[in-house]
Amino acid sequence: MCGIVGYTGYRDAFPVVVKGLKRLEYRGYDSAGIALHNQSLQVYKKMGKVADLEEHVVGKNIAGRTGIGHTRWATHGEPSDRNAHPHLSASGKLAMIHNGIIENYNQLKQELLQKGYQFISDTDTEVLLNFIDEIKENNHCSLEEAVRIALKRVTGAYVILLIEQDNPDTILAARKGSPLVIGVGKGEHFLGSDASPMLEYTKEVVYVNDYELAIIRPDELILKNLGNEVLTPYVQKLDIELAAIEKGGFDHFMLKEIFEQPQTIYDCLRGRLDAQKNKITLSGIEQYAKEICSANRIIMVACGTSWHAGLTAEYIFEECCRINVEVEYASEFRYRNPVIHPGDVIIAISQSGETADTLVAIENAKAKGAIILGVVNVVGSSIARISHAGAYTHAGPEIGVASTKAFTAQLAVLSMMALKIAQLRGTMPAERISYLLSELEEIPGKVQQILNDIAPIQSIAEKYAAARDFLYLGRGYNFPVALEGALKLKEISYIHAEGYPAAEMKHGPIALVDDQLPVVFVATRDSYHEKVISNMQEIKARKGKVIAVVSEGDETAISLSESAMIVPVCDEMLAPLLTVIPLQLLAYYIGVARGCDVDKPRNLAKSVTVE
Ligand code: AGP
Ligand code: GLU
Repeated sequence: MCGIVGYTGYRDAFPVVVKGLKRLEYRGYDSAGIALHNQSLQVYKKMGKVADLEEHVVGKNIAGRTGIGHTRWATHGEPSDRNAHPHLSASGKLAMIHNGIIENYNQLKQELLQKGYQFISDTDTEVLLNFIDEIKENNHCSLEEAVRIALKRVTGAYVILLIEQDNPDTILAARKGSPLVIGVGKGEHFLGSDASPMLEYTKEVVYVNDYELAIIRPDELILKNLGNEVLTPYVQKLDIELAAIEKGGFDHFMLKEIFEQPQTIYDCLRGRLDAQKNKITLSGIEQYAKEICSANRIIMVACGTSWHAGLTAEYIFEECCRINVEVEYASEFRYRNPVIHPGDVIIAISQSGETADTLVAIENAKAKGAIILGVVNVVGSSIARISHAGAYTHAGPEIGVASTKAFTAQLAVLSMMALKIAQLRGTMPAERISYLLSELEEIPGKVQQILNDIAPIQSIAEKYAAARDFLYLGRGYNFPVALEGALKLKEISYIHAEGYPAAEMKHGPIALVDDQLPVVFVATRDSYHEKVISNMQEIKARKGKVIAVVSEGDETAISLSESAMIVPVCDEMLAPLLTVIPLQLLAYYIGVARGCDVDKPRNLAKSVTVE
């Protein structure tokens, strides 16, 4: 995700674009930049916030009535001035901003390098820009034609805005897979990743569709498809307030991010998982394949929700790779002087990439010779930079303090990692790996299925919002999900909740059970199912209120539950990607019912950068 803004018309472009970027900073904010056309192309860009960009341009020429601006959420190339957008083409005649990921950028880059192109940045964006530039210069064609030719070869997701030296008042835009809105004014046009940058000027908008290309001038909007057919823009009148737009029409960022998960899991798998070819591409792993495959143990190091992802990964890695896995709370691991052997592999899991305990824990381990792999969401963050290699989760900015989409993205990456290592080590039959890859590919659709019917979860939340305590129980792959469900509830609704392995009840916690206690079972149909059913009966016999996440069609589990939350069937190894969704929603709706500030819960910070 990132923020894209464009303007062409009778106003000075700079203030319009910068104000629009500020409205979009929730979409990504590691760097910002603007390109203006005022006889020539002026490009200003800076790592940091939009305010840093404003400071940067003081005293500079910021005139011009056509401009494009960008707040970056880095995917290729860590946050820096040179990796910030807009990028200038080698010819200096084109400036471009981009939201998305160009999957085949490496191949295009090699072709351009062979043609003598040089690159200033590490981004995929600059590769696409010079690919367009090369086509335009070599074919002596229009920018529009060059973009059309180039985009037919590009795989991945993009919104691109370009301005060119030779056409001062024109912006060229194209999209596939990332959002683009055009605001229609009188003698002016606006562009944005969403409508927030244009709302104060116009409520007449055109939503650009995939594979469409727009040529925008102050008085003209031409819309075409990549086949060069002219389309009729569908202008609609917006009836939405600014605050609602940032949250995508949802009441809170947390709910928006829960609903983004089909897309974010898909984005995480994109370009890496090819089930048909039984292929997983994780360059960070391939680089250290030898060390990982010969490791005696893998240590997962993390905090909070990321620690729950690590605990899930323990079950997945041991099943797939047959390597001993340990899971460590970073805050304990860093202080207890752990035994680290050179060759130990540590997987540091962190959404923010800045959690102090995790960072110091892996610094210490690295100093003792361990190989550090990062599973991180924020590109270029401290943990990402200190790791030897790793894989980004590509979940986009997670604004809600409670981690939701980052967690499922972590599980998706860790599942691909485990299957990749299993392939390399030959510790799992190829047909089993192939089956699991196909199952993984279907997860985004199955998550969407859950999100399409949340009414049962909302009514459970209403019914139990006043409870004082909750127990969450699960076995096997669903045990870490029980812990995660309890954490979600605690941090969002302030209700005391504990997660346990379901079998652990008889070792003490069952003394808590009475007719006031809601007990949430994560009880999908898996190899532990029969045991979990017995545990549900034990709770029921003691008048506990049984709430359960169950597999569709599991009448036994449904009959034992006061309230059931149904998820589609999938392989037990991937079940956490589905079973966590109802628990995220349950925590959210109970928090809302209790009037809690679900995006900014009391006492919590999004990233714990202090010890
Ligand atoms: C989870 O909902 C919490 N926000 C918290 O436990 C979080 O997972 C933990 O602080 C770790 O953060 P990180 O993933 O950014 O390292
Ligand atoms: N992939 C591009 C980059 O890393 C764009 C990222 C974004 O959408 O902000 O610069």
